[in-house]
Amino acid sequence: VTEPDLRGRHVVVSAGGTREPLDPVRFLGNRSSGKQGYALARTAAARGARVTLVAANTGLPDPAGVDVVPVGTAVQLREAVVKAAADADAVVMAAAVADFRPAVYAAGKIKKKDGQEPEPIVLVRNPDILAEISADRARPGQVVVGFAAETDDVLANGRTKLARKGCDLLVVNEVGERKTFGAEENEAVVLGADGSETPVPHGPKEALADTVWDLVAERLR
Ligand code: C5P
Repeated sequence: VTEPDLRGRHVVVSAGGTREPLDPVRFLGNRSSGKQGYALARTAAARGARVTLVAANTGLPDPAGVDVVPVGTAVQLREAVVKAAADADAVVMAAAVADFRPAVYAAGKIKKKDGQEPEPIVLVRNPDILAEISADRARPGQVVVGFAAETDDVLANGRTKLARKGCDLLVVNEVGERKTFGAEENEAVVLGADGSETPVPHGPKEALADTVWDLVAERLR
């Protein structure tokens, strides 16, 4: 797609995976590479949008012509997304956000002590950013898109999640040990709150990104 159908629009994309620190050198993280989010940012820019990319621990080069806001944790990602969403036409949450974080952050490196069992790690809930921005739209008509990685009952779980999160579109893909994470290609179904179902065949992450922007642009018109 070369048509500048997102010209004059501001879109926010989150990408990558949050890291929740236990101490200065350790964290709880996930395998998200950030590639899908970066593909979304690149394709939106190519379609004329002003793009804010909130990037969590991706290590990927900044896409040209995109505003990149680097973050580490879910709480930092929330702050950056909520701030950027204030004047956004669309928000796409492609980042893998940790549902929980360690309850305690040890200011010094946690040490093993001879003859002593390790301390259990206690977790607390992180804010659900997608649910929050869906519930409190920063402007009327703002389109909110979520991603869901499911391992089984992909469509049924996707529908339930779409309703629970309150977003307009949910990109559902099946993940497994060798699927999706870090790969160059993706395969998904995009579920709409209006009941629509758009299958996206196995292909480059750019193709899925363009389908997402097609559906967003339709809803912005
Ligand atoms: O509930 P689940 O983690 O499967 O939902 C995935 C979607 O929700 C993604 O779009 C992700 O960016 C978003 N999410 C979020 N805040 C969380 C957890 C997930 O915004 N704490």
